[in-house]
Formats: sequence, structure tokens, C-alpha cells
Amino acid sequence: MPYVTEQNLTDIVLQRWQDVPDPRLKQVMQSLIKHLHAFVRDIEPTNAEWFKAIEFITKTGQISDHKRQEVILFSDVMGVSMLVDAINHRLPSGATPSTVEGPFHVADAPELANGANMAKGAPGIPTFVTGTVRSLDGKPISGATLDLWQTDGEGLYESQKGIEEPWMRGIYHSQPDGSYTVRTVAPIAYTIPMDGTVGALMQKTEISHMRPAHIHFAVSAPGHNPVVTHLFQKGDEFIDTDVVYGVKEPLIVAFTKKSGGKTPTGETLNEPFYEVRYDFVLQAQAKAKAAA
Ligand code: BEZ
Ligand code: FE
Repeated sequence: MPYVTEQNLTDIVLQRWQDVPDPRLKQVMQSLIKHLHAFVRDIEPTNAEWFKAIEFITKTGQISDHKRQEVILFSDVMGVSMLVDAINHRLPSGATPSTVEGPFHVADAPELANGANMAKGAPGIPTFVTGTVRSLDGKPISGATLDLWQTDGEGLYESQKGIEEPWMRGIYHSQPDGSYTVRTVAPIAYTIPMDGTVGALMQKTEISHMRPAHIHFAVSAPGHNPVVTHLFQKGDEFIDTDVVYGVKEPLIVAFTKKSGGKTPTGETLNEPFYEVRYDFVLQAQAKAKAAA
């Protein structure tokens, strides 16, 4: 074996990593080595810079736990989370597009009746989200599950409030005609957590660290591919600069302001409220071929 030089090192490492029985692991590692070596050859780091990079990765792992995932946040701001999402959800046109799940989903939200208020006691402008869940062929889907989570009108998710009881989340089900009605309050734009390694990195740039106002939805129904997505408020000042690249044109919806009066749940409000309309479209799963 030749001894290493700057010129032959990449080839020698690639040769060594031929001996990986799992073909997928071999493919992943060989590609990683190629790209990582190309990156280092490109930037030619000093030893001090490389140590700084290692320190960044170490700290990013150390501040992550079951409630805070700084590594995912790094993937998000690098656009990698959205790239992985895009590769895994190549949906036909007309189906509701997916977007990042983000770190704030909490499983087992309370089951709520159609039209129930998932924002009881929360600050913010009352907001009614109505629409349908349908198959790509236009047929309404009865009994689809809509799992929602969002910030309150002050920009806080449940985990950021440090409370035990559910806050700003709920599970709804579509009606026999595919329709659903949600009462909530309008979310507002908010910053990604800036007190960690990713925040410190963002502070060294002039890149916006804001996410535009949005409501998260995970919509699922038997026989259909589930979709994890958001609805974004049209006109939000951060809609074109979402720090995690999550905005897709079909997910931008109007929050139509009413000065008061009859709401989609039939009640009358003497204060301004928003109406939002969105029809979710799910792709039917391919039927398994019958055994011959
Ligand atoms: C969110 O939508 O909640 C979110 C997504 C990615 C990073 C931070 C927050
Ligand atoms: Fe969010």
C-alpha cells in the first residue's frame, strides 16, 4: 500500500471503506467520504478552525435532549430537512404538499369534537379553519384524523410555556361529507430558538431567524398516504424568508378578517375573528397485488 499524501489520501480511504458488507452502508459511507474530503479540500481549514467545527458539533449534541433537538434545528436551517422531505414525498400535483414537522409536535393531543375550540383560554384572535379532506379523485374522506398544533397569539408552543396540560393542540376527525371545522386563535410569526449553537451561528449572519405564522397539521386516513404539513398565513412578512425553507405556494392561505358576527360554528362573536378555508387532498395508497 502506498503511504498517504495529500493527493492520494481520499482514494486510500475510499479503498479501505470498500470492505463493508451492507451495500447501502457502503454507498452512504463512500459518498460521505468523497463529499467530506472535497469540502475540506475546498475550504482548507486551519487546525484551529477544524477544532471550532468539532466543538460546534459536540455542543450541538450536548444541548439536545428529549425536549430540545438542536441537531434537527441545524438540519432545518441548512435546508436539509426540507430536502429529505421533498425526496420522500414526491406527490402528484393536486395532493396537499408536505413540509417539515419541526420540534414542537406532542403526541396524544386531546380528541376534540368537530368545531371545538383547541385554544381555550389562549391569547390571540379567534380563528375558524374549515374545509374538507378528500382523495385525489375528489371523493370526500369520512373519519380522517387531523392532528393540529401551533403557537398561541403570543408565539408560544406548549413546550415553551413549561406547562403540563395540553396547549394549542387537538385531534379532529372529518365528518361523513369529508368536512372539518376547527376553532383556534391565529398563530403569529416566531423565531427559532436562538439560545443554542444554531442561534449563535445565525447571529453571525444577516439571515432572518423567523418562521412565518403557521398552523401545523398531520392528516391521515385509512388507505391513504398521511401528510405532515402547515398552513401559512398569506401576507406574513416572513413568508419569503422562512428560516427552515418550509413554505410551499399551495400552503399559503388567506386569513379573512371579519369584524364580528356569525362564525362557521354558528355562534356569534362580538369581536373580530379570522376565517380560513383549506381542502386537504390525500393520495390513495397503491393497492397490494393479490398473491398469484
Ligand atoms: C416549527 O415549525 O415549529 C419549527 C420547524 C423547524 C424549526 C423550528 C421550528
Ligand atoms: Fe411551527
